[in-house]
Amino acid sequence: MDTSIDVLTVLEKGSLSLKGEFLWGSNYTFLSQVAYESCTLMAVYKPSRGERPLWDFPAASLARRETAAYLVSQGLGWDLVPPTVYRGDGPVGAGSLQLYIEHDPEYHYFNFDAADRQRLRPAVLFDLLINNADRKGSHVLKDEAGKLWLIDHGVCFHVEDKLRTVIWDFVGEPIPADLCAGLERYANSLIDSNGKLTAAAKPLLNYLSKGEVRAMIQRAEELVQAGVFPSPDPFRRAFPWPQI
Ligand SMILES: Nc1ncnc2c1ncn2[C@@H]1O[C@H](COP(=O)(O)OP(=O)(O)O)[C@@H](O)[C@H]1O
Ligand SMILES: [Mg+2]
Repeated sequence: MDTSIDVLTVLEKGSLSLKGEFLWGSNYTFLSQVAYESCTLMAVYKPSRGERPLWDFPAASLARRETAAYLVSQGLGWDLVPPTVYRGDGPVGAGSLQLYIEHDPEYHYFNFDAADRQRLRPAVLFDLLINNADRKGSHVLKDEAGKLWLIDHGVCFHVEDKLRTVIWDFVGEPIPADLCAGLERYANSLIDSNGKLTAAAKPLLNYLSKGEVRAMIQRAEELVQAGVFPSPDPFRRAFPWPQI
């Protein structure tokens, strides 16, 4: 691939051709080839029209949440979510388009080795921050270079507590200082001293409501204040189903 053109540009401007459908997700999810000038790459296209309706999330909002999750990952500087854009002009309508990560689908959270499990603190904090209602074991991928990636962020950012995750490895542990500082810095970048959302929050508002952005900032502040990884809420289902 021509490295002078970045992945985001290809995702934003490339022409899409559908190559196949992933059968295991809950929504219509297509493997797509994206071509722009001399570059082609593979990406995962999730059209809003293919979203299964949910009682607790507004209709056709999941692809926007996928895109917001990428912006948050970048805003934190943690680089957890593959490059993701929102395309208004996908072949079957508006949807999210995310870089496809080559990985071994047989290697996932439930059989990660101890060292890989230890690498999941940023992932756990990210899920707490975005209020992920569906962190399954197979939605943490390890690419061929050994980097870990997080995927499937359609049901995130609700204003009410919805956290459901399989990753409870760090309950009660102090949040490492650098990660705590990262959360604090990010939250502070989104809101000014008068409580107004800043220009840095603007891109998020293309995909989330003001209330959802404010709720995220509040979750960051609470995490920083607590300074420890929380335990599962005993009064709510804390694990997704299925777990894998
Ligand atoms: N960026 C990605 N890179 C590689 N595989 C992906 C990516 N996104 C999705 N997949 C594959 O597609 C499957 C379905 O995607 P997922 O995001 O879980 O969709 P759904 O919203 O339908 O649950 C995943 O389990 C994974 O195998
Ligand atoms: Mg899924």
